[in-house]
Amino acid sequence: MRRILVNGGKKLNGEVSVSGSKNAALPILAATILTNGLNTLTSVPNLLDITTMIRVLRALGLRAEYSHPNTVRIWANHNIKHVAPYELVTKMRASFFIIGPLLAKTGFAKVPLPGGCAIGSRPVNIHLKGLEALGAKVELEHGFVIVKAKKLKGDRILLDFPSVGATENVMMAATLAEGDTTIENAAREPEIVDLAEYLIKAGALINGAGTETVQITGVNRLQAADWKVIPDRIEAGTLMCAAAIAGGEVLIKGANLQHIEATIIKLKEAGVGIGEEGNGIRVKAPAKLKAADIKTQPFPGFPTDMQSQLITLLSLAEGTSVVTESVFENRFMHVHELKRMGADIRLEGQSAIITGVPKLSGAPVKARDLRAGAALLIAGLRAEGETLIEDIERYIERGYEGLDAKLRSLGADIRELKNIAEYEEEPDQ
Ligand code: EPZ
Repeated sequence: MRRILVNGGKKLNGEVSVSGSKNAALPILAATILTNGLNTLTSVPNLLDITTMIRVLRALGLRAEYSHPNTVRIWANHNIKHVAPYELVTKMRASFFIIGPLLAKTGFAKVPLPGGCAIGSRPVNIHLKGLEALGAKVELEHGFVIVKAKKLKGDRILLDFPSVGATENVMMAATLAEGDTTIENAAREPEIVDLAEYLIKAGALINGAGTETVQITGVNRLQAADWKVIPDRIEAGTLMCAAAIAGGEVLIKGANLQHIEATIIKLKEAGVGIGEEGNGIRVKAPAKLKAADIKTQPFPGFPTDMQSQLITLLSLAEGTSVVTESVFENRFMHVHELKRMGADIRLEGQSAIITGVPKLSGAPVKARDLRAGAALLIAGLRAEGETLIEDIERYIERGYEGLDAKLRSLGADIRELKNIAEYEEEPDQ
């Protein structure tokens, strides 16, 4: 288990580049199942979740290899297995993205039912209702979802909630269905647009991706396609928060302003200086952060994946802020850890009431999900003294490409702790 030690108080200055989007690359990797030929995907972040998805594709019989740390080549054709390996799929929820493509390509798929995780039960009922609407027979057996359909038939589908994964799974399945499919109340995230544009380049007929109504006309076959994945908007937002909290001025290169407008609006409200510059975003930390109220929403609303990082920032702002989490049922675990660092936060149902404090103090903290891990790391940048973060493979490196190295390159004092013995609690005076 790897751990890092953050020594707070260092301002961040300089330039840093954003990696490709984890949440765009994962469904696009799954979508290669639908194609025939060689797909070359570039700007793919070099992350554990990505290598897990690549191992799933290999287990299904696709040939997949890295030709560069950020370039993946995937050969797809018709001889493909129908059963995804239990131990791999249950490692990463996003592996469930393979069920739509596998069903559409082969008429049968047997995929482990994803478990819940720290942030919620994470059901897949909306995914399965969508596949049923396309004519699939759905069974649950011994922890597996089994879906069958001789030939999927297009239909009009109204999603109960604009679920990102369900929109992606149904859209992928509909590309090879007979006739037209309309997905109403579709999610509108930029990652869905990126997936749609990759599929269109592979020969799919899709209109309206990025709006609440996506229309797909089925085709017989998709060719392979080369694709450059969009920049990771959540990494960009996380780096913006890091600069705003630590102090200093940072240029975040390669970030797409349009993808994180809601985050930028809230950071400006909190007093952070933000401007577009060339192909990036320049962030200037204010002398004093100001309180702001936030409610997480599906895109284009404020992203739930930025909620933890903003709570960290608002814990140091003047005044009282209210942050309401409306997408996941249990995404405040990092709050208890922030309170151990001196934050003044009260939880009331799905809202966190944050009273700003002048300072945080470093402490050993535990993350429970990826964005909480990042939120505690950036808290440590400002906290007085040392903050120890354990298990960073699971809670930071799984979803951020070299985040600690990027922050170090900007001046942060972050080092890996080879063993816990190095981390001496202050001896009692
Ligand atoms: C995607 O997860 C992202 N993951 C998440 O990012 C992100 O937080 C989430 O979208 C919301 O933006 C990937 O893209 C790999 P949802 P997904 O389906 O698709 C409920 C990160 O840190 N729901 O939009 O699983 C669900 O329980 C991760 O990178 C159902 O009830 O999210 C949740 O409360 C975390 N039934 C809400 O909808 C379903 O069938 C939103 O989930 C599906 C979802």
